[in-house]
Order: sequence, then structure tokens, then C-alpha cells
Amino acid sequence: MPDIRRLLDQNRLWAEETHRKDPGFFENLSRQQSPRYLWIGCSDSRVPANEITGLRPGEVFVHRNIANVVVHTDLNCLSVLQYAVDVLQVRHVIVCGHYGCGGVKAALERKNVGLADNWLRHVEDVHLKHAQWIDAIEDAEARAERLCEVNAVEQALNVCQTTVVRDAWLRGQELSVHAWAYGLKDGLICDLGIRVSSAAESASAYQRSLGKMGAPAFTPLSP
Ligand code: CO
Repeated sequence: MPDIRRLLDQNRLWAEETHRKDPGFFENLSRQQSPRYLWIGCSDSRVPANEITGLRPGEVFVHRNIANVVVHTDLNCLSVLQYAVDVLQVRHVIVCGHYGCGGVKAALERKNVGLADNWLRHVEDVHLKHAQWIDAIEDAEARAERLCEVNAVEQALNVCQTTVVRDAWLRGQELSVHAWAYGLKDGLICDLGIRVSSAAESASAYQRSLGKMGAPAFTPLSP
């Protein structure tokens, strides 16, 4: 199994190299982690949180699933969020979607991919909520890219509406929620203009961000 052995060989080299550059690195990290960021991103192998943001081990807490979806009853995602906010006291929660997302495309095209259809139904819901203006985009690729952006914004809003984040804001904890979209073609992250630091800001930030994308002012707002 040379394909698997390669990973272990590379790991040994990486550990040696990291130790050589910073002899205390692993020793220090093994005692504690104090990341400032929680990353909620897509499972896509082309969007590795640490690598594209230049962050080292210990600097970002990560949750990934297909199409970076935040569902209010997803105990997995909520547990990661709760631990990151309450215990690790991260300062920023970043929902990062990406252009060319296969999950978003499948949801947009109502493609059957198997069990994951049930998961992607959440992205279909996002599409349905905004279908009127998203479907008016003529170019199919542009339409899918827009849904990638809108999905990231909607999922960031879902983060804002969790009990975890609401309670953190209520007790005055410093915490910002962001929505980004990563470009597979150029490796660049686009800030979608959501930077919410309190419950009061979330509706206006949401509306402003979608407005810049071309959503009509009457786009229904979540409370
Ligand atoms: Co994806």
C-alpha cells in the first residue's frame, strides 16, 4: 500500500522539519490550544482551512461538512460551535463556502447523489428562498456561484441565530461571525460583507450583503 505509506513517510518528514525549525512547537501545542478562529467550511478536498489562510496547527478550530451547512438541530456542528465559543473562546466564526461547490451545484440542479440529497435539501431550501432573483441569472455557472455565496451568507446567519452565539453576545463576549467564499480557480477568498458582532447587527448585515449580490430589497429576512 505505497499510497498510504506515503502519508506516513510525509508525516515523519513534516514532524522532523517542524521540530527542527521550532524545537518547542509540539511540546507547547500538546499542553493547550487557544485558536482565535472557528472555521465552518465545505468538506471539499480543495479547501483546506489552515493552508489557504496560512494558519499553523493550533490556530484554527475546524468543522467541515458537505456545502458548509449550519443546521439548528445538527448536534455535531452545534457541539463544535459550543466548544469553540464557550470553552476555547474563539473571537471569530467564519463560514467559508467556495465557488465550484459540487454540493451547491447538485442542490441547484436537483441532482440525485444518494443519501447526501437529504443533507443538500438544506441548500435547496436556500435556493428556494431566493429562487426568484437567483434563477433570473442567465449564465448557469454564474447562477451556481451566486448560490455558493448566498448559501454561505445564510449559513452564517444560522450561526448568529444559534443559542450558543446568542448567549455569548448576551453575556457580552467578543465574537464576530463572517461569511466568505473561496475561489478554486485563483485561491482567493472573497469577503461577502457579513461581519456580525451582535444580535442587533445580523439582520442589516444580512440584507446589505445580499443586496450587493443583487437580491431585491424585498428578499425575506430571517428574524
Ligand atoms: Co463544496
